[in-house]
Amino acid sequence: MARSLFTSQGAPCLKCHAIGLAEHDKNATAPNFLMAPDRLKPDWVRHWILDPSMIDPGTNMPSNLFRHEAERWVFAGPTPASFKGYNGDHTDLLVRYMFEINPAEQQRLIQMTGGNLKSKAGASTTRLESKPERKSKIARSSRSPGESARDPGPAGSSP
Ligand code: HEC
Repeated sequence: MARSLFTSQGAPCLKCHAIGLAEHDKNATAPNFLMAPDRLKPDWVRHWILDPSMIDPGTNMPSNLFRHEAERWVFAGPTPASFKGYNGDHTDLLVRYMFEINPAEQQRLIQMTGGNLKSKAGASTTRLESKPERKSKIARSSRSPGESARDPGPAGSSP
């Protein structure tokens, strides 16, 4: 189910996030989900996808991807047919899925989206390479969710 949300027309995650497909990734502005499990905790990721700008006010990731509905968070855009009748929390679903993504799963995602990714990636604005300091900020903030994100840290300490 989470896979179908990731690859659905309405879900924007893969517009910005890299997926290991060279042609798509050169336009991607956000990190590949493969790296997430090493660096991040599920709680932090859930917090992040609900409201990225709370953690990092300057982020390019939108904050209105989910809306609260009857005690749970649901994806704010159109959801795939398989979501009909599903009463769980969509952020939980996505977080669990993100922690399971591996290279084989990414290949499946790429296949499911067919040629879609290439054209959609054009929507991006900033390139990740242009702001390496942001990367290290995210990595640090994963250690103590929410509070250290604003810590500027020593300049140039990141590779
Ligand atoms: C408009 C572009 C955009 C969209 C759409 C988007 N993201 Fe992001 N996301 C980013 C950027 C950019 C970052 C990196 C943080 C930064 O630079 O501010 C990020 C970071 C993340 C991170 C932290 C990853 C890490 O390794 O540090 C997670 C998790 C994440 N996004 C999940 C999602 C999910 C799930 C969706 C879809 C529901 C989504 N994103 C949609 C742009 C986007």
